[in-house]
Amino acid sequence: MLAIYRPKFAPMETTSAVKNILGLHLPTDPRWVDLAAISLEDILTDHAYCEQKAATSCISLIQRYSDKEKLVNELSPIVTEEWGHFRLVLAELQKRNLKLGKQRKDDYVNELMKFEQKGGSVEDRFLDKLLIFALIEARSCERFKRLSEGLDDEYLRNFYRRFMESEAGHYHLFIELAETYIDKNKVRKRWSEWLEYEAGIMEKLEIRGDRMH
Ligand SMILES: [Fe+2]
Ligand SMILES: [Fe+2]
Repeated sequence: MLAIYRPKFAPMETTSAVKNILGLHLPTDPRWVDLAAISLEDILTDHAYCEQKAATSCISLIQRYSDKEKLVNELSPIVTEEWGHFRLVLAELQKRNLKLGKQRKDDYVNELMKFEQKGGSVEDRFLDKLLIFALIEARSCERFKRLSEGLDDEYLRNFYRRFMESEAGHYHLFIELAETYIDKNKVRKRWSEWLEYEAGIMEKLEIRGDRMH
């Protein structure tokens, strides 16, 4: 059940990609979907900002690691894709006469960032950057899966399914990039540490219907 790592990520079918993500150590509490369903404006707002942050994070990675050609080439279209996601969520809010609202404090990501190596080698810090994004994509994918299966509204179930598929691909890309530049055994070891740490966060975080994470 805890088999979470695939040494090499060839293009995969969505179903197996998503199944792999379910290897996250701790599944989302099923009550979260019900809470999210009754706070649609809040959850869409939080989701919109998650997409925006995903786009800006990819831009930051490109700026910081501009010498890594594959990374630059692979992440450039993801910026466009994530920004497209933001626009989709924004349109969904507006269609429902809901407001984007203000960005909220992201406890999940803030907690994750505490585990990032601040010292260590350049490679260690680079690895953590890629793995933190892989993890956020994986957890987002899992949350979208929950929404795509658990909401009553069929339109919204399909809406979230599209995000689920897309974020699954991003998760794989970040792992693949890590393996491109860094020894696979090292990636695997650090990835399992991240998964364990993330499960600890999920255990402690309050279940809130107004947050994607
Ligand atoms: Fe996205
Ligand atoms: Fe993504």
